[in-house]
This record gives sequence, structure tokens and C-alpha cells, in this order.
Amino acid sequence: MSLTFERTLNPAPATAEERAAILAKPAFGSVFTDHMAVIDYSEEKGWHSARIVPYGPIQLDPSACVLHYGQEIFEGLKAYKNANGEVGVFRPEANAERLRKSADRLMMADLPEELFIQAVKELVEVESEWIPTGDGESLYLRPFMIATEAFLGIRPAKTFSFYVIASPAGNYFGGELRPVKIWVERAYARAGRGGTGSAKCGGNYAASLKPQVLAAEKGCDQVLYLDPLNDNAIEELGGMNVFLVVDGNTLVTPALSGSILEGITRSSILTLARERGLTVEERKVTIDEYRELAASGRLSEVFACGTAAVITPIGALYDGDEVIGSPDAPAGEVTLALREQLLGIQTGAVEDTHGWVTRIK
Ligand code: PLP
Ligand code: COI
Repeated sequence: MSLTFERTLNPAPATAEERAAILAKPAFGSVFTDHMAVIDYSEEKGWHSARIVPYGPIQLDPSACVLHYGQEIFEGLKAYKNANGEVGVFRPEANAERLRKSADRLMMADLPEELFIQAVKELVEVESEWIPTGDGESLYLRPFMIATEAFLGIRPAKTFSFYVIASPAGNYFGGELRPVKIWVERAYARAGRGGTGSAKCGGNYAASLKPQVLAAEKGCDQVLYLDPLNDNAIEELGGMNVFLVVDGNTLVTPALSGSILEGITRSSILTLARERGLTVEERKVTIDEYRELAASGRLSEVFACGTAAVITPIGALYDGDEVIGSPDAPAGEVTLALREQLLGIQTGAVEDTHGWVTRIK
């Protein structure tokens, strides 16, 4: 299914100078481009009214379901510009598929993959001047769907809107790449057994804000959540998956448990690691095993990964008063090699043998 996107160009876009100043030093998620893509859904019309419009406030009825019951899902993916000025988006089909899974869990309208990709392409095409090209920089795309029906009864909404907005992005953690500090969260959970942990919905992130603030007060960058069954197993960070490198040649990541988000970066790394001849294990990893591996010196590297974070080295875990690992551990060999290869594929510097990059123009 495809729709024709009607284009209304922004009458007052950023000037070339304003844009250049932003692109010279992109942060993460604070500046947005001049336009957004929108598609509406109703039971009668299905997906309709596809359009590119000036970026700006959304008008909603105060009783819209999203404002009361959190019926909202989102995605994150990136567009890169290669050395020849060609623009590509990394694995949009995978994001489209995950959005469909999230929509199913949250009882929202099913957005066909083709429409998701069309919306992304239309927006990136209009905003191609907004893509920064420094190391690790990109145009971060944030597709999201909200329940717009004005109704306070508790049942799935009947009308939805899907949007894609775009933001020039540098390092998620700010500044140069550095090892991040991780707080091991023992009091709070972001997701429970049978909950929405494997869906990408706003509510999961709302639940993560308090532990994130408490962790930041202790000097940590991200929170590591443990499994909801209290098995002392590590799951994922508030916005990233986690990998351990053991003995320099084995890549270990927590198995998908139902409460972990299946990261597209995670799955890309698993593929690349297997091709590099590393042993790959998706399995349960307890904090006790982590501590023993670190103490014995077998835990050679740890890193976080996600669209926003790409691959970011993890320095130490802070578990109460205990510090596991070294806060200043430099990024390891495997971490840096995988980061270079993944970013290389994304930016066009390394051959894309998997067909992961969708060329826009
Ligand atoms: N886990 C969580 C909770 C996330 O928010 C993200 C980011 O999107 C990830 C993992 C990594 O997913 P991806 O690699 O698809 O960005
Ligand atoms: C992403 O990586 O796309 C996310 O949604 C996670 C968040 C840390 C921005």
C-alpha cells in the first residue's frame, strides 16, 4: 500500500547560516528540522491524508486517549550522508516491523511497512540538507504513533496519527566518545513479566525516568535493569542493549526475555560478530557471573548499543557501594572494531553486504 504525500513547505525555514551553525555542533534531540511527515488513521478510511507539513505543534482534543492512557509507540533510526553526498537510512524495514509489533501490543493501528518507509523517505528527501557528516553524526529520525480519539472509556482508540520528525544528532552522551558509568538498579523496574518491555512505547520510558535521575545523582549515565523474575540477571539499559566481551573472543548478550527491547543495533552486531568469527552467545547473564568475570580478568570489554548510542563503551557498573570494573577502562579492541564497521556500513565507508542501507537520493 502506498499513498501520495501532499507537500506543504515551511514558509519560514531555518536559514542556511542557522542550519550550518546547528550542524557544526549537533547535540541529541534538542533541535528539529523544518518539516514533519504525518499520516492519519480511522476505521472508516484506514491510513489516509499522508502529508509533509511544517514542523510544529500538534492539536489534540484534551480527551485524546494518548493523553490519559499512554497509547503511544515510537521508533528511532538514522539517515547518513556518505562522502559523495548520497543519503541512506539504516534498516528502516526493521523499524517498520518493530513498530507493527509495538502497535499489536498496545492495540494500535497496523501501519504497513511500505507506508512507514514512504514517510521516512519523503521526510529525509525534504530535509537532506539537515544531515551532519562528522564522525558518528547523522539525522536522527523519530517516527511515532499516538491515539487521537476523544474518549475516556478504557478501550483501544479508533483513530490514530503517525508522525516522523527529524533531528540532527551527534553523540548521545555528549562530547567525544567516552566510557559510560552504569547504575545497577535494584529497587525499580522499567518493565515487568508480561508487561510492555519488548514494545517501544512511551510508558516504558516514563517508568525509567525516576531511576535515571537517581542514577545521575550518583554520577551514572544510564541504568542497568535486572530481570523482573528477580533472578539477578542483567537485562538492558534504559535506552540501550548491553554486550560483554569474554576472553577477547566471545560476545555475550542477554537473551530476549520478553521484557527486553529487541534492538536493531543488537541484531546487526550479532550478525557482524558471527561473520568476524567471534563466538556469539545470547543467554542469561547474572550480576554474580558479571562480577566473577570482571574479578578474574576474563571480562575484556563491555559496551552499550542502540540507534542513539551506536556502540558506546561501558566503564564500570555501580551496584550499591560496589564498583565492578574500572570507570576509566578505555574502549576495547572488539568494541572499537565493531563500532567502526557498523558506522562504516551506515555512512557508506564500508561495503553494505547485507542490504541494510536504503538509499534515499
Ligand atoms: N533498549 C531500549 C530500551 C531502547 O530504548 C533502545 C533504543 O532504541 C534499544 C534497546 C536499542 O534498540 P535499537 O538498536 O533498535 O535502537
Ligand atoms: C534510540 O536509540 O533510538 C532510542 O530510542 C533510545 C533513546 C536513548 C533515545
